[in-house]
Amino acid sequence: MEIVIANESHFKYAEIICDTIAESAKVRGTGIAKRTPEYIHKKLENGNAVIALEDGKFAGFCYIEVWGHDKFVANSGLIVHPDFRNQGLAKKIKKAVFDLSTKKFPTAKIFGITTGLAVMKINYELGYQPVTFSELTDDPQFWKGCQTCKNFDILTRTEQKMCLCTGMLYDPAKKQKPTNKEKVNSKAFNRLKSIKEQLFLKKNNSKK
Ligand SMILES: CC(C)(COP(=O)(O)OP(=O)(O)OC[C@H]1O[C@@H](n2cnc3c(N)ncnc32)[C@H](O)[C@@H]1OP(=O)(O)O)[C@@H](O)C(=O)NCCC(=O)NCCS
Repeated sequence: MEIVIANESHFKYAEIICDTIAESAKVRGTGIAKRTPEYIHKKLENGNAVIALEDGKFAGFCYIEVWGHDKFVANSGLIVHPDFRNQGLAKKIKKAVFDLSTKKFPTAKIFGITTGLAVMKINYELGYQPVTFSELTDDPQFWKGCQTCKNFDILTRTEQKMCLCTGMLYDPAKKQKPTNKEKVNSKAFNRLKSIKEQLFLKKNNSKK
């Protein structure tokens, strides 16, 4: 498996990246911000993405987004092709994009929002901590990305204070050290997720 910083030579993979993200969101039945091949091209051109390939076959991808005038960086769009899941590939890709982020933007806070336990686990091991949305960027362009998510009405209803996603943040000033010993409490995460779903989706359904 080859995990590299992506460039223009990887343009041909933009479509499969977008399709795999969209397909996976459909299967999971969760919300996701939509990405277009043109958007992925920009990431490749700027050297702000990591791609995993096995013998030229697309295996996984993740990219960097910069917000709030370089104060915040998000590692977004993590996707592992179904053929390559549960082999630790997402962990390797996330580590590579995390290292790239800290190298290119050493003072930026790195953050993400996610409904996925796998991502939560990986982020936690990299040194991210769960935070409220108020700790994340207030750059409207970032939150605009949520408009294509099917849960966007929740974010609007709560005036951007909370949603089904959990916010996670790595602050380089706090020098959190990545450690494999600290693990996410999966039970607590799933409980929190189900409470949020009951709270937010119930209101939503009762409107119909
Ligand atoms: C989520 C995803 C990236 C995981 O990729 P992967 O290569 O299979 O993940 P890894 O093998 O590196 O697993 C990392 C950890 O997450 C766990 N994990 C993997 N898939 C999981 C799942 N569906 N549910 C719960 N935990 C999961 C693994 O057990 C591992 O935990 P461990 O450290 O305790 O062993 C992949 O399933 C995917 O692309 N899904 C669709 C897109 C998506 O959900 N992206 C995230 C958007 S928020």
